Amino acid sequence: MAALIAYKCSHISNAVRRNYLTLLLVRRCTTAQKEKKGIVLGIFETDNDVDGIAFTPSAENFNQRTSGKLSELLHLSGQTLKKGKSRLFYGIDKEYTSVAVVGLGKQSAGVNELEEINESKENIRTAAAVGARQLRDIGIKDIEIDPSTDAQAAGEGASLGLFAYDELKQESKRKPHVNLSLHGNQDSLDQWQKGILLGDCQNFARKLMEMPANKLTPVEFANQVVSKMTDLDHVQTTIRNKQWIEEKKMFSFLSVAQGSNQPPVFLEIQYSGCSNKDSPPLVLVGKGVTFDCGGISIKPAAQMDMMRGDMGGAAVVVAALLAIATLKIPINVVCLTPLCENLINGEAVKPGDVVTAMNGKSIQVDNTDAEGRLLLADALHYGCTSFHPTAIINAATLTGAMAVALGSAATGVFTNSRKLWTNLYMAGIETGDRLWRMPLFEHYTKQITDSQLADLNNIGKAARDGGACTAAAFLKEFVTCSHWAHLDIAGVMTNKDEVPYIGKGMSGRPTRTLVEYASRIADDIC
Ligand code: BES
Ligand code: ZN
Ligand code: MG
Repeated sequence: MAALIAYKCSHISNAVRRNYLTLLLVRRCTTAQKEKKGIVLGIFETDNDVDGIAFTPSAENFNQRTSGKLSELLHLSGQTLKKGKSRLFYGIDKEYTSVAVVGLGKQSAGVNELEEINESKENIRTAAAVGARQLRDIGIKDIEIDPSTDAQAAGEGASLGLFAYDELKQESKRKPHVNLSLHGNQDSLDQWQKGILLGDCQNFARKLMEMPANKLTPVEFANQVVSKMTDLDHVQTTIRNKQWIEEKKMFSFLSVAQGSNQPPVFLEIQYSGCSNKDSPPLVLVGKGVTFDCGGISIKPAAQMDMMRGDMGGAAVVVAALLAIATLKIPINVVCLTPLCENLINGEAVKPGDVVTAMNGKSIQVDNTDAEGRLLLADALHYGCTSFHPTAIINAATLTGAMAVALGSAATGVFTNSRKLWTNLYMAGIETGDRLWRMPLFEHYTKQITDSQLADLNNIGKAARDGGACTAAAFLKEFVTCSHWAHLDIAGVMTNKDEVPYIGKGMSGRPTRTLVEYASRIADDIC
């Protein structure tokens, strides 16, 4: 019977609608369809209102449409709703059978100077994520989201909040797919769609980071990315193989790759968004170690599985380019990702070995677990000398010391350019995925140029002290561009619950900040 009703539903013409029986069916069909529809609405905290509640325009409309039932129920259930906290109501509207009301904090929040974050946007992201997740968990498949005062932030939050990497689990254990849409007035549809796209691109980075290393080898990383980019205009992808890497004399990169039976890949992506194809590009470089066991300087077993995410730098720069190209931001971008595994076969690089990088500098590899800098050394030199970039930014899960310094609050940025820093920093305030500046002092350079056998040593003399800074000082030896920034993302690689709209697991941070940065500088350079 249910199947018959469902079938008839999609085949009803106006003529038969007059038939009583059909009318009955229609009503049953409509209820059956609408049963699954939910809505996420926001409410602000206020001090002056006696009720302590201020509805967003969408919530206000909904309250009127239900003849004040929404505010009645909110009062019955205790009127205040702190930011990020939610209540579920059922059956107060015919169309939206489930309503998630989420606290948005203070309406006047804006940019918090001390926190260096746009709290209004951040609260909207959180509310959208919390509400959408809650409705999905009770089986709602169609969810409309209140844009509140920022449809883009709502889209980002909803998309990021619903992400789950569960394709390796059996069907019954996977999260159901949900259709998200913008509630109410469609004037802000463009911003909403931009938000969804940004969330989806960050989710692509998260997926690549979550994927187990046996499924995401260097070759497979490149394949996944290339197939994601095929339909995009003005994007060209090139997969460089080991022979090309050898011809370029990237022996620093190759010294890491040699310990694994998986061949290395150097993936290059170009997006020409400027009408002037020759306008200097933004070059993005990402560390792509698809698994890092540490090599002969092997890591402890505990949590070693997390090192499947050691290609996070490559994932976020690729995801940022995907967003930039999809949004058709007018800028030229080149994305460079050296990809390999850091393992221990019989040919693995040994502590004390000396290798020569593409720029001719020799490196004593005293710790094979400080491998990220060896890949990046060659990629940064190649990037600076081959593309004459307007700016070059690399992202890397480079040091545990970075996580010790800042935790997961912000990505650490080491840069030789105040202008580049200011733009990146401003971008982070808006996206909520913040950056914090770190030093590139000569003090640290001294510790990596003091090598017994070579020009450089791949670890600092002061052992663990200032580990993130000595790693950055090492990279600086390979940079010839005047606007360079190194983003150490080791501390922000994973999320527990610090960012409420990003669930537990690999974070894909700071994909959105990179996109925001690119769109901010686009006008100046294109
Ligand atoms: N991939 C790690 C850094 C890392 C640690 C990222 C934890 C994310 C979470 C990197 O290759 C590494 O092992 N770095 C060493 C450097 C040291 C040997 C100088 C580290 O941080 O211990
Ligand atoms: Zn590593
Ligand atoms: Mg390592």
